Order: sequence, then structure tokens, then C-alpha cells
Amino acid sequence: MKETPAKKPGEDPASEASLDGKPYRSPVVAVLGVGSYTPERVLNNEDLERMVDTSDEWIVTRTGIRERHIISEEQATSDLGIEAGKRALAQAGLSAGELELILLATATPDQITPATVCHIQRELGAPRAAGFDMNAACTGFVNALMTGHQLIAGGGFANALIIGADALSTITDYEDRESCVLFGDGAGALVIGAGDGPGVVMDHIVGMDGTGAEMIRVNAGGSRQPASHETIERREHFLRMDGRKVFRFAVAKICELVEEVTTRNGLSLDDIDLIVPHQANLRILEAARRGLGLDADRVMANVDRYGNTSNASIPLALDEAAREGRLQPGMLVILVAFGGGLTWGATLLRW
Ligand code: ACO
Repeated sequence: MKETPAKKPGEDPASEASLDGKPYRSPVVAVLGVGSYTPERVLNNEDLERMVDTSDEWIVTRTGIRERHIISEEQATSDLGIEAGKRALAQAGLSAGELELILLATATPDQITPATVCHIQRELGAPRAAGFDMNAACTGFVNALMTGHQLIAGGGFANALIIGADALSTITDYEDRESCVLFGDGAGALVIGAGDGPGVVMDHIVGMDGTGAEMIRVNAGGSRQPASHETIERREHFLRMDGRKVFRFAVAKICELVEEVTTRNGLSLDDIDLIVPHQANLRILEAARRGLGLDADRVMANVDRYGNTSNASIPLALDEAAREGRLQPGMLVILVAFGGGLTWGATLLRW
């Protein structure tokens, strides 16, 4: 891996660190460890054929998804995050007791209050850690990574555990064939901090457009429409979406974000070794890949085995890429997310 100057958090906020002589925006914060976890139970397309009017052939052709992992009755989102967090900490060689910050990106908290990250802190045994939950739908992980990065760079914290975890199966309507084939449960986590690790966090772009708020939504169970017998009867606690609109938005946004984060760091697409997009649908990934003119080996795809795991999908795919040896020292990697809100974000990493 290319040597990067070691800096203490808060030191030299206008970092002069460089990428092949070109300046980049953020002070040096490293990725110290990566981990992921998916529950044991697998729901495959044949199982879904028995639940709704669908077929393996339709699901594979339209989404590329073959199976997804689903939590057990005893599990909740925090349980997924705890396991992923433990694995990332082990890889980082950091004990939970040393953790200063835990950020959880989730759209499916264990309960409305307290924040799910509190359960994670307790079970990990991380008494020194502050933390909070963040919800930006499927973009939440990139937002959390950016927040953790900036809090460390600002000098307030030496390290952070950034977790993306979701149990979308708990808000999936298994009578709605258009959406129930898409989602799965899981968690992924990164430990970041000042120091030497396999990756360097370099830049982020995030954004949102609330005029698209209706495109992906859960109508009831919040303060707008509190839970009631009527909302339950109308199945309003389940996720609804306008699939075709989301599809078009996603493809355009992936291309736009990849180009923007590349250009503003003085790079070209040829410099980027791997893109790790939010795993929503293989056709979305393929359309974006073709739009960018990239070969298949430069876009990470594991949606076939996990479905759309929302906040977990990017760290889950990044962890898999690392374990498969697809991330070599010095490689440039872009994480790119889109989701309900509408929200979007991208992170540039040097591995
Ligand atoms: N099995 C069989 N047929 C189905 C199924 C199914 N599971 N679902 C829909 N169909 C039918 C439709 O009813 C429709 O039938 P019709 O022509 O008789 O009306 C037909 O298949 C085609 O439907 P389309 O909506 O045109 O299918 P499309 O190719 O657009 O694929 C899909 C639908 C997979 C939902 C796609 O639009 C998509 O992936 N969109 C993006 C979804 C997404 O990423 N959501 C993000 C969710 S939010 C989050 O990430 C948490």
C-alpha cells in the first residue's frame, strides 16, 4: 500500500496529503478493519414461489437475486450489527473497550427508542463509546462513514465503529410480489481511525431530494400515522415503492456520483479499480456499469446471494471483496449508494 503520512486526529485539518501528487480533501483517517454478518436462515426463490405469484425465472431475470438471508424470530437489527461489529473489531485488532464512537446506519431500528446503537454498545462491551443511529434509508452507511470520518478528522474521537445493519424482512409485505422478492437482512461494519490500516478514507459526496419522498416509504408507525388497528389492517407498516421510478433514479445517480467523485479528486475512471454500489438489483448495477463503460470485474455485485440489505449492502459487499482478494494495496475504490428520501452518497477510498 502506498505510504500515507500518519497524523493524529485533529492535526492539520487542511491536510496536504496527496494522491499521486494530486491533492485530496480529507485528513488521513484509515479503515482499520471490515466485517459482516448475515443470518443463517436462507429464503430462496423457490420458497417465494410458494408464498406469492412469482417464479425463479422472473426474479432472476428482473433482479438477478437468487436468495437472501432472513433473521430468526429471536433476532433483531442490533444482533446483526453486533456480529458484524465484532468481526470488524477483530480485524482491526481493537478491543470494544477502546472504542470511542459507534454510528449505526439503519432504517429498521430494534424499536423507536432507545437508539439501536445503545443495544449494540452494551452487547459489545464498549463503555467509552458515544454513538447514535442515522437513517438515510439505503444511503445511511455512506452518511455514517462520512460523519465518523469527519468527527475523527475534527479531533473529537480517535476511532469509530461504523455499522450498516437492517432487517428489511420486518417491514416487507410478503403478499406484495413486486417488493418481497427484493429484500434480505444483514449487517456490515468498518472500524476507522487515525493510524495504519488497509484503507484510507479520502472523500465523500452526499445529497438528497425530498421531493422524491413518496417514491420509497413506510406510511404508518411514525408520528404522521401512528400504529393503530386500522393501519395494521391496511398493511401500512410495510415498505412501498415505485419500482420503475427508483430504477431510473438509481442508474442515473450511480453514474453521476462515480463521475463526480472521480473528477473532483483529479482522477479519471481508468484510475478506479473497484466500484462497490448499493446492491438493489443486478439490472441496476449492470445498467450503471454499461453507462460508465466499465468491465464487469470493476463493479462489485453480490446481490444474487443477499438481495437488497439496505444499509448493510455496501459494507457487506466491501467485506466480501476484501476476503476474495479483490482489494489490493493502493487500489482506488468508490462506494456508491442511493435510497429512499431520496438520498444518495459516494465515498472514495484508497485501499
Ligand atoms: N413475479 C412475477 N411478476 C411480477 C413480480 C414478481 N415478483 N413483480 C412484478 N411482476 C409483474 C408486474 O405485475 C408486471 O406485470 P404486468 O406487466 O402484467 O403489469 C410485470 O411483472 C412487469 O413489472 P415491472 O414493474 O415493469 O417490472 P420491472 O422490470 O420494472 O421490475 C422491479 C420490477 C424489480 C421492482 C424493478 O423495477 C426494480 O428493481 N426497481 C428498483 C427497486 C429498488 O431498488 N428499490 C429500492 C427499494 S428501497 C431500499 O433500497 C430499502
